[in-house]
Amino acid sequence: MTDTLTTPEPSLQPETPLKKVFIKTYGCQMNVYDSSRMADALAADGYRTTEVMEEANLVLLNTCHIREKAADKVYSALGRLRDMKKARQAKGEEFMIGVTGCVAQAEGEEIIRREPGVDVVIGPQTYHRLPDALKKARTGRRVVDTDYAVEDKFEHLPDPTKIPGKRRSVTAFLTVQEGCDKFCTFCVVPYTRGSEVSRPLSQIVDEVKRLADSGVREITLLGQNVNGWHGESRNGAPMGLGDLLYELAEIPGLARLRYTTSHPRDMDDRLIEAHRDLRVLMPYLHLPVQSGSDRILKAMNRRHKAADYLALIERIRAARPDIALSGDFIVGFPGETEEDFADTMALVEKVGYAQAFSFKYSTRPGTPGAELDNQVDEEVKSERLARLQELLLRQQHDFARSLVGQTMDILLEKPGRMEGQVIGKSPWLQSVNVDAKSLQIGDIIKVRITDTGPNSLFAEVAPG
Ligand code: 5AD
Ligand code: SF4
Repeated sequence: MTDTLTTPEPSLQPETPLKKVFIKTYGCQMNVYDSSRMADALAADGYRTTEVMEEANLVLLNTCHIREKAADKVYSALGRLRDMKKARQAKGEEFMIGVTGCVAQAEGEEIIRREPGVDVVIGPQTYHRLPDALKKARTGRRVVDTDYAVEDKFEHLPDPTKIPGKRRSVTAFLTVQEGCDKFCTFCVVPYTRGSEVSRPLSQIVDEVKRLADSGVREITLLGQNVNGWHGESRNGAPMGLGDLLYELAEIPGLARLRYTTSHPRDMDDRLIEAHRDLRVLMPYLHLPVQSGSDRILKAMNRRHKAADYLALIERIRAARPDIALSGDFIVGFPGETEEDFADTMALVEKVGYAQAFSFKYSTRPGTPGAELDNQVDEEVKSERLARLQELLLRQQHDFARSLVGQTMDILLEKPGRMEGQVIGKSPWLQSVNVDAKSLQIGDIIKVRITDTGPNSLFAEVAPG
């Protein structure tokens, strides 16, 4: 049975003695953001986060459902946690288990039916109710809450900059949009995360201001279809993501803005202008195309052709010549022939990606792709994926090598592994190791790139 929960007002005064929560995050950056907001909600209830699962009183699995076997992985992790729970309870210690995120949304009641150790199952729209759900679960009533909450969860979460004991970072994610209306035929997101909802302008501006005041220098705006964000200005005029970026660019202290993930069809002129005009908007864009074959793009319901994508990239590059591109690719979508795959390889050659993610098509029950009978053999998928990844990796290394000798700004994020080393981030999202004492985390400094490593760059502080 699903318990209906009331929504507590956020309070930062712990009601119970200090407890520890371990959160395992699967999947995308939106889950990373949700995990951190769940930790905030729990902090108000006396929980502190821990990196050590064995010392936790609560383990949350914040799950992802995008590819097959995700649910299987969660069930096997839950099996292991069940044993841990027995051992901890035998010692008289509290140990609770929660499943959150997209598998929670998709499986719901099935999770507590299959796994008796689970105390709470909470969907992505109701995690502000976690503390209340845990209270109920402590009285022996297991809670499944995967409704679409009528109230706005963001209104009911505590201010992330006021959480006692929270580790501060100079970069932050901020979800501005959730859900997707695009219905690509391979994708579960429109079913697990629902239709598109944009957070209102005032909420976003307030959160960005608070983050900037607390020392955050770089913010990445998140959304399953972030460039579908829309809102209203203070005088009621319609706004798109481009307008939002112009507005956020004015906020003092904020040095860098990014946004992800975008759909090519929602890259409008205003957004491209923002790339031209705003120096705080980093010259890096994740713009998934999925395939280079028009036939497959049509079957995927992407509603654009390969040539439209290439023309769009040309316009973006004309507006911001130093922009670097990243993308997502699926190989082996049902019906993909060697010729279709060759079109994908040709598109990649034309674009030249700085980074990219590529996956074998994975059948998702309930999506139109799963109904197609011309599924591609696993071996064929693996072989194509290997060829694509080789090309993408070569492009990534070529891009990194092209930066050697160049001077650029990096944002110093954290101390490096070696004494005196600091790790910063390039405008193109690469980690940069720089040797220097007396550098301040959060500063943006000029460096000269001296070398490349497998996954990072090396640099020296630039003179002057
Ligand atoms: N199979 C393989 N990859 C998928 N993605 C989404 N659904 C599937 C699927 N069924 C990939 C897409 C998307 C990224 C987040 O995950 O490339 O852009
Ligand atoms: Fe999924 Fe397509 Fe929406 Fe992206 S745009 S979340 S791939 S349905």
